[in-house]
Parts: sequence; C-alpha cells; structure tokens
Amino acid sequence: MKLSVIGCGYLGAVHAASMAELGHDVIGIDIDQAKIDALAAGKAPFFEPGLPEILTSATATGRLRFSTDLADAAGSQVHFIAVGTPQKRGSYAADLTYVNAALEGLLPYLSDGDLVVGKSTVPVGTAADLAAKVAASGSGAMLAWNPEFLREGFAVQDTISPDRLVYGLPPEPAQAEASKALLDAVYESALGKDTPLVVTDYATAELVKVSANAFLATKISFINAMAEIAEVTGADVTQLSTAIGLDDRIGWKFLKAGVGFGGGCLPKDIRAFTARAEELGRGESVAFLKEVDAINLRRRQRVVDLAVEALGGQVNGKKIAVLGLAFKPHSDDIRDSPALDVAVQLKGRGANVVATDPEAIHTASRVHPQLTYEADPAAALQDADLVVLVTEWDEFRYMDPSWALPLVKTPTIIDGRNTLDATAWRAAGWTYISLGRP
Ligand code: UDX
Repeated sequence: MKLSVIGCGYLGAVHAASMAELGHDVIGIDIDQAKIDALAAGKAPFFEPGLPEILTSATATGRLRFSTDLADAAGSQVHFIAVGTPQKRGSYAADLTYVNAALEGLLPYLSDGDLVVGKSTVPVGTAADLAAKVAASGSGAMLAWNPEFLREGFAVQDTISPDRLVYGLPPEPAQAEASKALLDAVYESALGKDTPLVVTDYATAELVKVSANAFLATKISFINAMAEIAEVTGADVTQLSTAIGLDDRIGWKFLKAGVGFGGGCLPKDIRAFTARAEELGRGESVAFLKEVDAINLRRRQRVVDLAVEALGGQVNGKKIAVLGLAFKPHSDDIRDSPALDVAVQLKGRGANVVATDPEAIHTASRVHPQLTYEADPAAALQDADLVVLVTEWDEFRYMDPSWALPLVKTPTIIDGRNTLDATAWRAAGWTYISLGRP
C-alpha cells in the first residue's frame, strides 16, 4: 500500500521505517529539514536498537522516502499523523498545535476514500474534532484513531509485532467498514500472526492509550509509595514487590521501585489526562494521578537527600559520579529523565557532578552544559566522593565493584534503581545505599 507518515520524530520515524520493512511504499514527511536529510541518508536521528538497519534497507530499496513537502502525501491511501503532543507551557494540558497543523496542511492533498489515521497521543475528543475538519474539506476522506503502544528501546519490534491493535472507527457504518478494511490491509502482517484487535469508537481508542499509560504510571508510583513506607519501617521493598508480584493478578512487571518514571510519555500523559478530565468536569475521577505524579517526583528528591546525607551534609565541591542520564536503558532520551534531574539538582547544590551514560551524553550536554560528562565510566568514577546509579544500563548493573573500588576516593554508592547485587558490593568494601531497603 502507499502510506504517508506525517511527523518523523520518535513515533513517526519508527512507524515509517517499520511499515516500509513490512513491504509498504512509505513517504515520511517532517518540517525539520535536518531530520529529513538524516533519515533519507538512512541515519536514525536518535538511538533506537534495530532502527538504523531497517532505515538503511528500506531507503535503499526506494520503499521508504522522506520529504519536507506535505504535497508528497498526495497519492497515498493512508496518512498517519504521528506528530508530537507536548505539555503546554505553564499548564498540564497537551499542546495540539502540531496535530492541528499537520491535519490542516494535509487536507488539500486528500482524495476520495483516503484514510487519515491519528497515532499521536491526544486528549479524548480530539479525533471527533479532526474528523469534522476532514468531513468539511469535502475530499471524501475518512479518519480513524489507532493509538501506538511502543516502548522506547523496543520500538521497532513493538511496531512490527504489536501486542495488540486498536482501531477507533468513524460512527457512520459504511465509513467504519471502509476504514477498517484499509487498516486491516496496513496491518495484514500483524493480523496474520493473530495479534489481538479491538475495534471501537474514537473516544475509546483515545482513552485506551492514556489510560494504559496512567495505569503503568500508577503501578510504578504504587510500589514507590511502598518504598517510602519501607524506609520508615525497616522493610525491604524489593522483597515486597517479589511477594506481591507472585499473585498473577498483580504481576511483577512495572513493579520495580526506584528513582521513578520519566520519558516522553508517562509524565506528560498523566498530566494531560488530569487536565482533560478537569475540562470535562470529571477532575475528581483521575485526581489520584496528581498523587502518582507527586510520589514519582518525591523519589528523585529522595535520591538527592540520600546523597546529601551520605556526604555528611557537605555537598559543595564534592565530586559525585552519576551513572546514567537517559530516562531508561537502551535509549538516549532525556525527556523528563529522573537521572538527569538528580544530576542537575546535585550540581545546583554545589557538587562537582561528573555524569556518564552509554548513549545520552550528546542529548544531555546540549540541554545541561553546566554538568561535566565522561564517556568512560572509569573517568567518571575517578576520585569520586560518592557514586549515584540512576539508569540501569547493563554497563553499570554488572560493573565489578572490586574494579571500581580503587578508582573512587570514598566507596559509597547509592543504587537509585535497586539493581545492583548489594551483597557483592558490600563484600567488596562499599557502603551500599538503596531505595526502600534497609
Ligand atoms: C511508555 C509505555 O510503556 C508505552 O506503552 C507507551 O507507548 C509510551 O510510554 P516508554 O516511555 O518507552 O513507554 O518507557 P517505559 O518502558 O514504559 O518506562 C517508563 C519509565 O518507567 C522509565 O523511566 C522506567 O525506568 C520507569 N519504570 C518502569 C520504573 O521506574 N519501574 C518499573 O517497574 C518500570
């Protein structure tokens, strides 16, 4: 099929390349010339395992092309909108400027029977508004909502073999049938592998995405709240998590206590959800998400407080080695990263922060040039008064404590992800401090 993907950021670039990998003829469109040039040359503008390989192969075959001109969307049967919906400045609400601009720009190039497919995460009600604009254009095109559940670090795999597909279809039956047929053709490969499919209306499809992220965020903040209780009772939150996760109604996934969640989705999505619920007069229904956010932010503060305590209250001029900058491993994404937040806060207290990360130094140094960065963990650790692990890259998880010991000035480590082997670190001579554990 001929597809266009409007917006070649994280979601759009992965979607465009993955659809081409599945055999579709794809044009990726973005207003950022530098991004388009990089993608057209087969280069991923961010770190995502597997993406460079499929970009290179699909651009080489000509199945994947890139452009800055929306006119190049003409001739595609299905047009995905995959632009960002960032948090508005000074508010919790989502900023729909890019979504609206993408649709307005696309309208002149739509033909009868084309399908516009929303993939961006939007406040519930957006799809109906956009569908009205498509209808008013008189093009005969239709609109569907098809949320995306990809995880950074597994984005290609999650797009090519999703764990479920959700179609939010138009209310009019003939349009719903035609839209479904087009989406089925796009996702033929996944549907052939018996991927579960939920066919629903616009509002439900929009809510599936935000409620899934709200649930995941709540699960993490729940266990982090238990970590706070563990800290004043002498209990061990990692054992608590293991024990409650054994109940398969609860499960272990997303039950790992630590410095909390970050990234481009969970924090902004729960905030946008509360803002939208308030607009709808149902603020109280999701008021708990404000607590989820507050617990999450408190965990960052806890790591900073533990660092200050470990340094005997004297932070000024002390060298702190920060292991990790990305919001999670296998990513160079520093959006709302707890790791970077901790590093910046410690720097703000006068510490000489030297941070290291296998992938995120280039993104972090652009936003926070005041920190010192070292690509080599040994250089970051050299003469450190304190070590703080905040992103659980394998390089840090499996670091040999005996190797690290002679490098530092004071062998104290704060494990902000409860990921190290505490016994091994203590046996090697370290003072080991973690979250929610004695
Ligand atoms: C998330 C959703 O998982 C995905 O379905 C959605 O499409 C986009 O948002 P992503 O932002 O890539 O994906 O990250 P995810 O793997 O969900 O991790 C989010 C954050 O939670 C990370 O900062 C991670 O470190 C943290 N986390 C995760 C925990 O602190 N504890 C856990 O147990 C799990």
